[in-house]
Order: sequence, then structure tokens, then C-alpha cells
Amino acid sequence: MKTEYNQQQKQDYGGANPIEVRDTETYQKEYIQGFVDKWDDLIGWDSRAQSEHTFFIDALKERGAKKVLDVATGTGFHSIRLIQHGFEVTSADGSPHMLAKAFENARRYDIVLRTVNADWRWLNRDVHDEYDAIICLGNSFTHLFSERDRRKALAEFYAALRHNGVLILDQRNYDAILDRGFSSKHTYYYCGENVKAEPEYVDDGLARFRYEFADDNSVYHLNMFPLRKDYTRRLMYEVGFQRIKTFGDFQETYHQEEQDFFIHIAEKMYIEDEDEDEQ
Ligand SMILES: C[S@@+](CC[C@H](N)C(=O)[O-])C[C@H]1O[C@@H](n2cnc3c(N)ncnc32)[C@H](O)[C@@H]1O
Repeated sequence: MKTEYNQQQKQDYGGANPIEVRDTETYQKEYIQGFVDKWDDLIGWDSRAQSEHTFFIDALKERGAKKVLDVATGTGFHSIRLIQHGFEVTSADGSPHMLAKAFENARRYDIVLRTVNADWRWLNRDVHDEYDAIICLGNSFTHLFSERDRRKALAEFYAALRHNGVLILDQRNYDAILDRGFSSKHTYYYCGENVKAEPEYVDDGLARFRYEFADDNSVYHLNMFPLRKDYTRRLMYEVGFQRIKTFGDFQETYHQEEQDFFIHIAEKMYIEDEDEDEQ
């Protein structure tokens, strides 16, 4: 029999029907210790490092970024990689369980992470510095369930960047899932071996993913808001970002339907006469 929990804790949607739970705080209930402990199996550090290669490192270096705020640290994959490549990194996350795991992971590489427990919606209450770059990776922004929260989070990111800073934010290709249903079963780059990740329920306001781990048959879920690519880009422009370049699975040129992930690189710097519709 499949277990919906491990010995430590069970994901608890407060007795409600999970597909009716669509609020921004839900991530706090979902990233319980058991799931956090499994997260590194899910993302598979080695395969992830291989598939993204030096994309983020190059993108940051090209833009002269040194001081980086990782707002969705999770278990620390990007924070640790960037520190290893000479960046000065602050690691923030709204989940204390995730931050503790990231700290523990970093110790294995002789790195002491500078961590801040902060929700994006009031990021500047807890983070008092200016950064060359903010990264929000691993399909994290999808956890915000209202447009108000998305706008507020983006405005907080914008405010924590220096005048010509850059935001790098990625998302799953929800357009493909919404438009073609569950038929789009890719091997998500994000997925380690022995983990099955698939959409269990999708409508315009919810993508509920199911994660099954082969080693102990444990099952966890994430409720996420299915962001359409152009909607995310529009919100970024509306909060003030001036130039947004969107990559599909790390490529500049791509077929929208075939991509698993989009990566938006949004620049704050004002450029006279810049055209808005760059992809
Ligand atoms: C899908 S995980 C990705 C973690 C990591 N970036 C990775 O790629 O492995 C999403 C992370 O975003 C964090 N998160 C979600 N909503 C948040 C919010 N409103 N404020 C701060 N952190 C949030 C979660 O706690 C979680 O660590």
C-alpha cells in the first residue's frame, strides 16, 4: 500500500478537499520535514547540474552580477553552486525546514550559508540590502495563488535590486499542460531518478502535482498556480522591469510546446527607446 506520509509528518490540507486549497500559505503545509528530506532525490543534484550546465552562472556573469539573493533557496542547490563559483550569496526562503536542510547540505561542502527566513510578500522587512541579482528558481513563483501576491512579491524583488539589477525566475511550461492536458509527459529536467512526478489535477487555477518516491513508496503533493508564460512576463513588465528575455529549457530559440521550463531574465535598467516585445 502507498503511504501518503513518512514517519515524521503527513501533508495536511486541514481536512479540506486538496483541489480546493488554493492559497499562497499552502506551501508552508506542503514542505513538511518528510518532503524536504526527499527533495534532493526529487531534484537530483547531479543530473540537474548537468542539464543546466553553467546557464545561470554565465547569465549572472554576463550582467556583472556578484551579489546574489536566492529567494527560493529550497535545499540550497543554486546557493551552493553560486558560492562555489565565487558569487556572494544570501539564501532566503519562507520555509524554515528548507533553510535548515540547505544549511546542512552546504556544511558538507564546507560552506556556511547566510540564511534569512522570509516570505517574498514582505521580503524587504527581513532583507535589508541591495543585490545585483535575485534568483527565484525551481518553479517556485508558482506557489503564489493570487495576482495580488504575485505583484507584491515581484515588487519586493524589484525593490531589493540595485538600479540595474536582474531577476532570474523560472517556471514550468504550464501553457503546454493547460492546452494539451496530461498528455504532455516529459522527463522533467528537475527530476532525480526513482521519482515519478506528474500532474494529478489541472484547471485554470490549479496544477496539483503528485510525487512518488520509489525507495519507500511515499507520496507527496504540491498545489501550484499554473502560470502562463506571457502572463508572468506581463506582470514583470507591469511592476517595472524594462527588458525580459525568456529562454525555453536554457535555449534562446525554442518551440514553445516542447519545453518543460521557461526561464525569464528580467532587467531593471532603463534603456531609452527599448522595444517591449523581446522574447
Ligand atoms: C519548488 S521549491 C524550489 C526550491 C529550489 N529553488 C530548487 O530549485 O530546488 C520552492 C521553494 O519556494 C519556497 N516558497 C514558496 N512560496 C514562498 C513564499 N511565498 N515566500 C518565500 N518562499 C516561498 C518554498 O519554501 C520552497 O523552498
